[in-house]
Amino acid sequence: MKDKPKEEKADKKIVFSRREFLNAIGTSALVVSGVGAAGVTLDYLSPNILFEPPLKFKVGTPEDYSPDTVTLDAERQIFIVREEQGYFYCLSAICTHLGCLTFWKGDESLIACPCHGSRFAKHGQVVRPPAPRPLPHFQITLNDRGELVVDKGEIVSEDYILKV
Ligand code: FES
Repeated sequence: MKDKPKEEKADKKIVFSRREFLNAIGTSALVVSGVGAAGVTLDYLSPNILFEPPLKFKVGTPEDYSPDTVTLDAERQIFIVREEQGYFYCLSAICTHLGCLTFWKGDESLIACPCHGSRFAKHGQVVRPPAPRPLPHFQITLNDRGELVVDKGEIVSEDYILKV
């Protein structure tokens, strides 16, 4: 079999000159750094917003809560308390020691913290440390439609109650 001429073989190869090769490398570097700089600039210009759940929200109607009950809303980290006489109050379910979610311990009639053993009375006063402060109370009102509305942005005194 006869070999093809050398010139024909050379035609099939892609041949770069040194200049073309260096141009390609330089252009690639410019594109990569330009894309990186554009990304950083866009990130800098975009607003740095932290989305938080609303502080004011509905928690149902008074009929949803039986008298003499303590209801934990774990998602919103609050207790809705309905006393035997029918009035309401709302308090934080976040332990004032290191911020664990507390729970209602019905057999002791206390709010308990699972982390370091703090106990709170139904009104939020510290019964057993290490919690340094009582659980704060939040404003609870009734809207025009007869729904209970809690506002975690409004801390009220511990003798604040909602009569319905
Ligand atoms: Fe509740 Fe420590 S976080 S007792």
